[in-house]
Amino acid sequence: MGKGKVYLIGAGPGDPELLTLKALKSLKNSDVILYDALIDYRLIDELKKLGKKMIYVGKRSWDDGKKRQEYINYLLKELTDQGLTVARLKGGDPLIFGRGCIEIEFLEKENIPYEVIPGVSSINGVTSSCAIPLTHPELSSSVLIVSGRADVVKWCKTPLEGTIVVLMGKDTIDEIARELIKLGRDKKTPVAAIENGTLPNQRILIGTLSDIGEKIKRANVKGPLLIVIGEVVEKFCKRVIANAVRTE
Ligand SMILES: C[S@@+](CC[C@H](N)C(=O)[O-])C[C@H]1O[C@@H](n2cnc3c(N)ncnc32)[C@H](O)[C@@H]1O
Repeated sequence: MGKGKVYLIGAGPGDPELLTLKALKSLKNSDVILYDALIDYRLIDELKKLGKKMIYVGKRSWDDGKKRQEYINYLLKELTDQGLTVARLKGGDPLIFGRGCIEIEFLEKENIPYEVIPGVSSINGVTSSCAIPLTHPELSSSVLIVSGRADVVKWCKTPLEGTIVVLMGKDTIDEIARELIKLGRDKKTPVAAIENGTLPNQRILIGTLSDIGEKIKRANVKGPLLIVIGEVVEKFCKRVIANAVRTE
């Protein structure tokens, strides 16, 4: 029997109406849905009505994280070995503080085809629905996203060690890179610059702090650009390039 497939889907921050059309389509195309604790019961009920097999894999009082992840990995392999399409449904966006990255590593190791379907994260979904702007022309031009479980000393060093996402940085990337290097960030720090993200004409440029400015200039970027600075780019680089419609 051929291998099945996994959709790693973000369900949005809570309100089922914040599920994306693509997420809904992928859920409808799935045979089995493995879902986490933060998924709203109304969405679960709707999926059950569609006749989907639902398996809860969220936290339980009796298990630890490691055992739970092993169980999830076991299910992903077992079900896809049977040729089934599996939806792995996570709260918010699947790659924000949700261990989705660990599941991607497992799927790649086992050669299981997968697709990531982004979700509205609680980071912007919850705040926007409360009309709290994360940025403001006079009050805030940056947002720091941290896990409350992470070491405080570590996240306080975000410009030196963490991931930085720059919007509207096409014209100032040289200055940004220069200042980060001056602050002490390694000039070999990997950087991805994504033009027209999620669109058919998406392009991804991969470089380092020392050469990304030049690469962006040479690529004659015209569309909206999002720049990601940090080690996660290198770790997931091959995947980023494989998923790119065109890379430079
Ligand atoms: C394990 S993280 C997963 C985050 C998720 N992947 C995302 O993109 O929002 C779970 C945490 O996200 C926050 N969160 C998620 N949904 C929320 C909601 N509807 N309201 C408030 N906080 C929420 C809480 O801090 C919660 O403990």
